[in-house]
Amino acid sequence: MVDESMKMVLGKQRYPIVNHLRGRSARMWVVTVCILVLVASPPLIAQKTRPGFESDDGKQLFIANCAPCHGPDGDAIPGVDFGHGKFRRASSNGEVLEIMRSGVQGTAMPAFSNELSEVEIRRLGAYLTYLAAATQSTLVPGDAARGKAVFESKGNCLDCHRIKDKGSRVGPDLTDIGSVRRLSELERSILEPDGEILPQNRFVRVVSRDDVTITGRLLNQDSFTVQLMDSDERLLSFEKSKLKAFAFLEKSPMPSYQGKLNARELADLVSYLASLKGNGGR
Ligand code: HEC
Ligand code: HEC
Repeated sequence: MVDESMKMVLGKQRYPIVNHLRGRSARMWVVTVCILVLVASPPLIAQKTRPGFESDDGKQLFIANCAPCHGPDGDAIPGVDFGHGKFRRASSNGEVLEIMRSGVQGTAMPAFSNELSEVEIRRLGAYLTYLAAATQSTLVPGDAARGKAVFESKGNCLDCHRIKDKGSRVGPDLTDIGSVRRLSELERSILEPDGEILPQNRFVRVVSRDDVTITGRLLNQDSFTVQLMDSDERLLSFEKSKLKAFAFLEKSPMPSYQGKLNARELADLVSYLASLKGNGGR
């Protein structure tokens, strides 16, 4: 079960660490970090919890039986996205359950009537409904152009984030954030930065032998060394054996914008972030 949940979280790591490292000074690092990431063990995984879903049963069933094809968020098959709560082949909950029982003939969607009990199928049905509700944003559609202005002025987001060649590298690079995060996730990042911190965005505090404390974004670590970027965008490397302390920060350095932006500004900002798709974005 632990393995399954790890798989789920790993499936979210579509936003590779190299994205945060665009730029001349960092190019050499990209190669090193790529290699290190391949060999790095994942002790940094922060379990993603979906608030509000009381019973984990449906989720476990989904991860074990459906996620291998549909992905942990149910959006891995082109044209099928359980997050939308709309189905191509079903217009009622009853029909969804029937698809699970009988599969979809002529496609890779298998029948589960032999593998799963009726109770389990119903639990899965409830989980699909939950997925749709949890991933749907409460937001009205915003205006991306106005959102850009919020990002650059009132939000002061550039103090910590980079979009293409503008801004800071203290926080993650957001140039491609629209391709890797959903609207609801973007909204949550702004309102509850501590809610879910992706493994590659975690911050650490190290204390050197001469009692200097440094906090920075963890770029990589192995058994012997740790690399981080401090608030002046310096890339630092430490030998773990020479450190007095090394710990993850539980809280995000990003402030919550709950109550600081009105609903309109928030919607605009999320639309702007959603429009950022690498070079195709604004
Ligand atoms: C071996 C891969 C595979 C597995 C495992 C699998 N599915 Fe599917 N599923 C598919 C494919 C492929 C489709 C798309 C079929 C089509 O072309 O319409 C699909 C379609 C569906 C649909 C219809 C989607 C729509 O928009 O109409 C539902 C609902 C569904 N799957 C639920 C599940 C559930 C729940 C599980 C786990 C119990 C599951 N699937 C496991 C491959 C899989
Ligand atoms: C003081 C620095 C700081 C400011 C100001 C700041 N952020 Fe962040 N932000 C961070 C850090 C650090 C992270 C990574 C840790 C985390 O996920 O909370 C982050 C994470 C994010 C993420 C999630 C990234 C991902 O990979 O999923 C989004 C989206 C985001 N910030 C948007 C914004 C927006 C929009 C603003 C302005 C309204 C903003 N941030 C202001 C530091 C900051």
